[in-house]
Amino acid sequence: MSKLIYILNGPNLNLLGKRQPEIYGYDTLEDVERNCAAVAAERGFEVALYQSNFEGGIVELIHKAREEACAIVINPGAYTHTSVAILDALNAFDGLVFECHISNVHKRESFRHHSYVSMRADGVMAGFGVQGYELCVQRACSVLAE
Ligand code: DQA
Repeated sequence: MSKLIYILNGPNLNLLGKRQPEIYGYDTLEDVERNCAAVAAERGFEVALYQSNFEGGIVELIHKAREEACAIVINPGAYTHTSVAILDALNAFDGLVFECHISNVHKRESFRHHSYVSMRADGVMAGFGVQGYELCVQRACSVLAE
């Protein structure tokens, strides 16, 4: 079995640490990758973090995950609330899927309350800041070790 966990990020998350820090904090995607890699390594797993501002880019990364990854942790950004294409791609992935939102989307505007990705996700994290990514990786490792 693959020991690689994909951490996929959607639009605007390349600006993490600079964009609306009052909502998303000051940590960057590089910090997320480093912290998740440490959590995974302690449990004998590896992570690969990717980001795309394009819906099709995320779909293609999910296709790549089909060949390489045992789990996907995904923060689809705004595509969470709109993208049937990302849901369809995740439905074609056989491994674990965890959906991760830095902010608590349920406390925000009503258009953020619905998630297409949640229809596929094995677990959902929202409002734990960037620590949510690490918690998703930790959970993926635990489930895969069972
Ligand atoms: C987000 C929440 C989304 O509603 C928003 O569009 C994002 C980030 C989060 O991590 O809290 O870009 O997914």
